[in-house]
Amino acid sequence: MNLAVIGTGYVGLVSAACFAELGHTVYGVDIDQAKIDKLKRGESPIYEPGLEEIIKRGLENGRLSFTTDSTEVLPKVQILFCAVATPSGEGHKADLRAVFSVAETVAKHIDHDLVFVNKSTVPVGTGKQCEEKIKEILKNRNMTIKIPVVSNPEFLREGMAVSDTLMPDRIVIGINGNTWAQEMMEELYRPITRVGKPILFMSRESAEIVKYASNSFLATKISFINMMSELAEKTGADIRDVAQGMGMDDRIGPRFLHAGIGYGGSCFPKDVKALLATAKEYDLDFSIIQATDQVNHRQRHRFFQKIIDTVPTGSTVAIWGLAFKPKTDDMRDAPSLDLIPMLLEKGYTVKAYDPAAMENAKKVLPEQIQFAGSPLEAAKEADVLVILTEWDEFRGVNLAETQKLMKGDLLFDGRNIYDPKEAQEAGFVYMGIGIS
Ligand code: UDX
Repeated sequence: MNLAVIGTGYVGLVSAACFAELGHTVYGVDIDQAKIDKLKRGESPIYEPGLEEIIKRGLENGRLSFTTDSTEVLPKVQILFCAVATPSGEGHKADLRAVFSVAETVAKHIDHDLVFVNKSTVPVGTGKQCEEKIKEILKNRNMTIKIPVVSNPEFLREGMAVSDTLMPDRIVIGINGNTWAQEMMEELYRPITRVGKPILFMSRESAEIVKYASNSFLATKISFINMMSELAEKTGADIRDVAQGMGMDDRIGPRFLHAGIGYGGSCFPKDVKALLATAKEYDLDFSIIQATDQVNHRQRHRFFQKIIDTVPTGSTVAIWGLAFKPKTDDMRDAPSLDLIPMLLEKGYTVKAYDPAAMENAKKVLPEQIQFAGSPLEAAKEADVLVILTEWDEFRGVNLAETQKLMKGDLLFDGRNIYDPKEAQEAGFVYMGIGIS
């Protein structure tokens, strides 16, 4: 099949490259000329395992191409994916201007039937609004073609984006009664459903809610265990044992019960707040989600406060991990963005290291921060070591060697990656999350 993917951000680019990998012909479109030039050279603008490889393969076999002009690709495609950004807007509501602008451009230039698929994360009701806008423009153009609007939310995790897209747990499609659109979506996803992955058809409104409900549920799981970590710290319990004891119940499950400094990134914080904004619009009391958001904020700041209360100002703080999570260079809503400026402002010296995000970090963090070329270089002569991201590289370091290089002996492990006993044996005074 021939498809266009409008927007080559995380979701759009990964989807475009994966659809080409699955045998479709894909045109990736973005208004950012520099990004498109880079993509045409086979370079990925984001760090994502396996992505550059499939972009290069798609370019070489001719199934993947990139352009800044959506009108040029419209005549060639049967399906169009809208994967533009929906950032937090006024009152944390999703800003839908880019989505509506794509819908309008399509409606103004299209002259054949096309399935318009919304992959951007959009609040319930957006698909209907897009369809109405498109219908109105088509009517003014005296066009009788069909442009059904379908919702197909994306559930990929950064760092696992390619495998999540090629091998998803499920594919969710929201269609309001258009059999042609349903057949097109079935055909599009056949390479994935053929290997046994389920495809679920439901109403467009249900599909739109699935995305926010899934992200908010996962965020709630994290906030739940983080809330319990406060009780563990006060009572001498170990949150890792609590999580293990809970997670072995099939109904609960072990995943997303890892206590830490809270969730960050481009999805959870934004989607939780956007769902709250939607609930407010409908005058609903979403107190569970409200608490999820509050606990997340508190958890981050509780940890920071512990550092500030324990470490005298003027000390040197080594920070391992800047990205919001491992295997990504994404700095969006990363805890480091809150902690580092706070430390610098209070008169601490900060030396930081991250395996992938230092280039991006330099653009968004204050200049006074010193960037190191390795974890050990960051730790050298430092009074305290703080772990903000659970990169595998940090799990494997020799803690005794690290401690010897340091001036001080404090270790704040914001992700519980070390065994407290081992850290103590290596000479550290260890402080984890939910471990007293
Ligand atoms: C998430 C969802 O998983 C994905 O389905 C959705 O489409 C986009 O948002 P992502 O933001 O890439 O993906 O990261 P994820 O691996 O889910 O982690 C989110 C945050 O939660 C990270 O900050 C991570 O450190 C934190 N987290 C995760 C915890 O603190 N504890 C856990 O047990 C799991």
